[in-house]
Parts: sequence; C-alpha cells; structure tokens
Amino acid sequence: MKTLLIVANFKSYLNNSEARNWLDSFSSLYSATSDKRIILCPSFTLLQLFRDYIKEKKLKIELGAQNISRLPQGPYTGEVNGDQIKDYASFVIIGHSERREFGEDESVVEEKVKIASNYGLTPILCIQSEKKQIPQESSIVAYEPSFAIGTGNPDTPENAENIAENIKKERNLDFILYGGSVNGENVKDFTKQKNINGVLVGGESLNPKSFLAIVKNA
Ligand code: PGA
Repeated sequence: MKTLLIVANFKSYLNNSEARNWLDSFSSLYSATSDKRIILCPSFTLLQLFRDYIKEKKLKIELGAQNISRLPQGPYTGEVNGDQIKDYASFVIIGHSERREFGEDESVVEEKVKIASNYGLTPILCIQSEKKQIPQESSIVAYEPSFAIGTGNPDTPENAENIAENIKKERNLDFILYGGSVNGENVKDFTKQKNINGVLVGGESLNPKSFLAIVKNA
C-alpha cells in the first residue's frame, strides 16, 4: 500500500483565533492512519501556534512553511530564513504559481530548493507543467497546473497521472502530488493513480470538515 501525503496550503488566510478554531474542529474529528501523512502549511505567524497545539494534543500531523528566504540571518527586513523556519516546520512549499507571479523565476526557485535542503527542510516543489526543471535536491514534487488553482476546474486524473509517470521516468522522487481544485469528491480519482502519491489542497483546506473529507476519501 502506498503512503499518501495530504498537504494543506492555507495561503494568506486564518488569523490566530480562526486557526485555533480550525485546529479544535479538525482534531476533534481526525484519527490518524498509517497510510496517510498530513502536512499543514500555515502562515509564518501561525507556525508556533500549530506546533504547540500539535505537540500538546500529540497529533500525528507535520508542518510546512509557505516560503523561505534566499538569505541567511542578517539585515534583511521582512525575510524569514531557513534557520528560523526549522524551529517550527520540516517542509517548505517552493515554486507555487502564486509566488512565481511575485517574480520568483526558475533560478530563484532552484536556489530556494537548495537552500531549504541545506537547512534540513524538505522542499515541496510546485511545478506548473511537465517541462519545469527539477533540482537534484527535490524529493517531493507537486504538479499544479495554473488553470486548476482556485478555479474549481481540476486537471483530468489521466493527464495528471501521465505527467507524474513521465516525471518518475526521469527522476527517482519519493512523492508526486497533484494540486488544483482538489475536493472530497474528486480526491480519490487522483490518489488512485499509480504514480500520484498525494494532493496539495488550497481552498478546500480552509474548512476543517472539507479537509477531513479529503483526508478520509483520499
Ligand atoms: P486550490 O489551490 O486547491 O484552491 O485549487 C491549490 C494550491 O494553490 O496549492
């Protein structure tokens, strides 16, 4: 049986009290299984809350950040570096199409993957098409076509599987995820594919019950 990664990307949503409510609601309904790993990626400001809550309640949930600075500690106002992130999280999303819109090109993405690995963080590298180069340090790649993100219009499972298969022919990766308009109804169509090892969920992760349906149905 393959292990699935179910990753929540909360983007720039949830304030402190909303995050607490999310955690209370999710943890009251969630029971861990050995074949699914849950990775939650909240904003930097919420990482401490998530970490402490998970520890206190002994939940089988892992944490990721949504970005990492290219710079080390230093006089870089507003930057959050890998040394700071690793106190809270083990993963970091890199190359998301929303960050690429802020000007993060392929060379920045590649550099960030290397930097994250150097800090012992596992990059979750988002690619928007099959053609994107995959840096050597990557072990988790999420195929997320831009047309499918936040639109309610997912790629077909067959196309996603085709891309995952082609990537795996080239590279020996641990996990290939699909992301883009995943919900509780369609998640299994993707996770049942041979070469797809999980999903990256945006919008539907914000409601704990919807996210739980994805976890259960995956
Ligand atoms: P979506 O977003 O699930 O809202 O389409 C996915 C993502 O941005 O990673």
